[in-house]
Amino acid sequence: MRTVLALAALSFSWANAFYLPGAAPHDYHRGDQVDLFVNALTPMLAGYDDAKLKSLINYDYYNPKFRFCEPEGGPVKQPESLGSILFGDRIFNSPYDIRMLENNGTCQTLCLVDDVTADDAKFINDRIREDYALNWLIDGLPAAEMKVDTRNGDLFFDMGFNLGNDDEPYFDVPALNNHYEIVLRYHQPSPDDYRVVGVLVWPSSIGGSQEAAPTCETEGVSPLILSETQTQSIRYTYRVTWNESDTPWATRWDNYLHIFDPRIHWFSLVNSLVIVIFLCVMVSMILLRTVSRDISRYNAIDLSEDVQEDWGWKLVHGEVFRTPRFPLALSVMVGNGAQICAMVSVTLIFALLGFLSPSNRGSLATVMMICWTFFGGIGGYVSSRVYASLGGTNKRKNAFMTATVLPTVIFVVVFLLNFFLLMAGSSGAVPFGTMLTIVLLWFGISAPLSTVGAYFGSKHGAIQHPVRVNPIPRQIPPQPKYLRPWASTLLSGLLPFGAAFVELYFVLSSLFASRAYYAFGFLALTAGVVALTTATVTILFTYFVLCAEDYRWHWRAFLTGGGSAFWVLAYGLFYWASRLSLDSMSSVILYLGYLLLLVLLDFLVTGTIGFLASYWAIRRFYSAIRID
Ligand SMILES: *[C@@H]1O[C@H](CO)[C@@H](O)[C@H](O)[C@H]1NC(C)=O
Ligand SMILES: *[C@@H]1O[C@H](CO)[C@@H](O)[C@H](O)[C@H]1NC(C)=O
Repeated sequence: MRTVLALAALSFSWANAFYLPGAAPHDYHRGDQVDLFVNALTPMLAGYDDAKLKSLINYDYYNPKFRFCEPEGGPVKQPESLGSILFGDRIFNSPYDIRMLENNGTCQTLCLVDDVTADDAKFINDRIREDYALNWLIDGLPAAEMKVDTRNGDLFFDMGFNLGNDDEPYFDVPALNNHYEIVLRYHQPSPDDYRVVGVLVWPSSIGGSQEAAPTCETEGVSPLILSETQTQSIRYTYRVTWNESDTPWATRWDNYLHIFDPRIHWFSLVNSLVIVIFLCVMVSMILLRTVSRDISRYNAIDLSEDVQEDWGWKLVHGEVFRTPRFPLALSVMVGNGAQICAMVSVTLIFALLGFLSPSNRGSLATVMMICWTFFGGIGGYVSSRVYASLGGTNKRKNAFMTATVLPTVIFVVVFLLNFFLLMAGSSGAVPFGTMLTIVLLWFGISAPLSTVGAYFGSKHGAIQHPVRVNPIPRQIPPQPKYLRPWASTLLSGLLPFGAAFVELYFVLSSLFASRAYYAFGFLALTAGVVALTTATVTILFTYFVLCAEDYRWHWRAFLTGGGSAFWVLAYGLFYWASRLSLDSMSSVILYLGYLLLLVLLDFLVTGTIGFLASYWAIRRFYSAIRID
């Protein structure tokens, strides 16, 4: 436990340092072009407390209805990583003309759009009402608004800035921001080299005549309110201010990676640790004392050549390794669970080591995809060994199902969600080329590796069992209420869920409310606690089930382990009710779709952990007793 605490203290005191410093910086000289790239528009949580997210759909910056100024020759899509595309980035170039240290404080016109129709205006106003935010990138840094953390007064950079404004004092009439004050912070490492270390944007709305010469004056001007009944024009202006900063390039992300309330992560950690300690005590008491007492008694009885009857879990020694129902389905689930488990562990290790720098957009998702693809071998191996141990005989079918069922399910769900995104005109839909890449990764690498793994798995064959299976199955006596499958699943899921629910809130917020999540230290430790809790709780319940002379523990162990997934589902619905106010059907379907995928993956991972832990424990129990 002390190691855990030391580890925690070590990695969390620098919660901001989870990225590799020293990836190559870009040096600019005076007058060099500094490119501004535009990313998709995303819905943002409004500034006030208990604000709710109103949509989940991203829109391309150059969606024709937004009428933003386009670069000469049309927008050009920028190359992106697989993970970046999957997580919704759609990056294009822009017509902003920014040159290092030039035009300091000059008011510049970007363009005048003079035929904004009533239809476009309505679209824009709706997006403003839904609190959409613009996402720009300059030299890899997201444009941010400077905000104050009300809890401790710290200044931090909040990524993205408002498309418009529909709060007071405009009395709920949405005003479009058509002027951007861009403050670029630069650092000068050597006399003629300049580096961008901060990008801040203050958007504002300048109404009045759009055709007149621009002044960029924001004081005392009326806001630009788009009429939804007539054609009008919008003038976009911007002003760049270069401001020297002491922040060196290596720490330029620190301002962005603001952890809102570190205390809440600590609370979550302490909460998890309390649960783990409680469990460890309980399990060590029950298992170590009871089981070893059982074992010594069983062995003593056997020695005294008595005809005394057996009792407790020893009674079912001839049944525990009997082939369960549907061994194929069980082993396929365990195989896939092991594959995801390996993927999550390795991704978390990468994140902890700081390889998943936020400046490498989408690196988290890319690493996850690659790990999942290459761990196909692990899935195949585990699945085929478990299948053989359960007494399954149709090895080919097992290998085939392991390689195909889960990817197909995920693919179908993502495909359906994509369909809804396309219907809603969102840019979040995964492009055809990316879909193709994923299918190729799956068929070309993951499935063959899974088959190779399955080959080695079946070569190593079934795990040896310490006791033989009786030819005739025993009768199962009536079970106590708390051991009924549903009751035990929900009961046992409560502990791992209780250890994780605070972090789960942050994970959901980063998935759906595009809040950046960088507290990987907390996440990794929470994941470890969840795995440990799941394993111990499942072993405990398996022990109870066997003591009640019910030997059908295989599926029970998987279900009991996966019990937390039901609580995750319930929590996801609670999150929807309390933090989201989705008004479009597509947003609702999107949320439910992704939530169900998340729950499915959680179920497979925790179920697998529970099953394998119980299997291990049962082999230990029964190899310790003597059977005549
Ligand atoms: C740009 O102008 C601002 C004030 O308008 C000033 O503080 C800053 O030092 C100027 N930057 C450069 C590089 O001249
Ligand atoms: C430039 O930076 C200084 C200190 O870092 C700050 O006080 C000032 O407001 C900044 N100027 C602009 C235009 O943001």
